[in-house]
Amino acid sequence: MKLIVANWKMNLNPEQASEYLAQLKGELVLDEKVEVVLAPTFLALDRMSKERGEFSLAAQNCATLDSGALTGEVSAEQMVGLVDYVIVGHSERRMLFDESDAVVRAKIEEVLHNGLKPILCVGERNLGEIEEVLRRQITVALTDLNCKEMIIAYEPVYAVGAAESASSDQISRAVNLIHEIASEIAEDLKVKILYGGSVDETNTEEILNIQGIEGLLVGRASLNATKFAKIVNIARV
Ligand code: PGA
Repeated sequence: MKLIVANWKMNLNPEQASEYLAQLKGELVLDEKVEVVLAPTFLALDRMSKERGEFSLAAQNCATLDSGALTGEVSAEQMVGLVDYVIVGHSERRMLFDESDAVVRAKIEEVLHNGLKPILCVGERNLGEIEEVLRRQITVALTDLNCKEMIIAYEPVYAVGAAESASSDQISRAVNLIHEIASEIAEDLKVKILYGGSVDETNTEEILNIQGIEGLLVGRASLNATKFAKIVNIARV
């Protein structure tokens, strides 16, 4: 089953999110070939969890603790019952909010211990450092982690919010590296790899045809329900 995730980032208020969901329900028939995950603002999660129908929901981030004096944060514990997934370690969080690998690791543990599923984002800033960065990010995230399955979204930073996605060769290389590194750290861990970074309806087919890519994390192209429905429909074929 392909996993197609819409990361709306800091866009769409609860009313707009709800209208989008209604439109998407009209444009898509879901089946066992694809799971569609919507990641709206925290503010829309409560309402969307009531209206979601067959769509899954994700939070875009969570705190490193269940509760406490962390002004402005939202914990994974507070999301239980609202979301299925939590995106962790997105490059915007790593770069703009200085999230270290250790913080990302703490968030993964929080998500897991609350019975939710992390979507771990990894990716290099520059082409030449792919192996070094993936090795470091994945090692800190997965070593001695009590978990049987992990979704890893490969999102090279240079392709996020950019004009073009990474090349198929580069994505293939990342798929191989991620499996290699993950199996060194946790032999029995089942890893599902998504790709993210300038995905739209024109490159969806090519990217999903890359061996080992089992889904997509879509930013800008997910902000329009019709465009996003096209992507999902291509993924269902
Ligand atoms: P983009 O964002 O599709 O707009 O490049 C992807 C992401 O940040 O997950």
